[in-house]
Amino acid sequence: RDLLVLNGPNLNLLGTREPAVYGAGTLADVEAACRARAEAAGFDGFEFRQTNHEGVLVDWIHEAGRRGAGVVLNAGAYTHTSVALHDAIKGSGARVIEVHISNVHARESFRHHSFISPVAAGVIVGLGPLGYLLAIDALAEEAKR
Ligand code: DQA
Repeated sequence: RDLLVLNGPNLNLLGTREPAVYGAGTLADVEAACRARAEAAGFDGFEFRQTNHEGVLVDWIHEAGRRGAGVVLNAGAYTHTSVALHDAIKGSGARVIEVHISNVHARESFRHHSFISPVAAGVIVGLGPLGYLLAIDALAEEAKR
């Protein structure tokens, strides 16, 4: 089984972007940790991607659905705005775990609602980059069942 780790807008700025909120690690650091975890968990294929464009995320979710790949999704701010991502997950049947580095519920109220959560298999927030790794473990466990 394949694993796609998909990152949305502004996550390319990790490391320099609001380090008090998101930490000092870069997206390349998150990628390296995810790759090691996915290999340890036995995934056949691993891809780690980032885009600042909503429609690109939609296309990638469709691709995951076609491939039967598990998805770890940090949709960034599109989490709070995107009916298109909600529909893409629902329509493609992709198995998605939603991850946020920060605890969105402890932040501004506009971050409290997620269009992804109702169609996600699970949600991990506020644990930093560790959340990505826990999501990978969860998808790997499911794949064994
Ligand atoms: C985020 C939280 C979002 O509210 C924000 O827009 C992001 C990052 C997180 O990982 O904590 O871009 O998804």
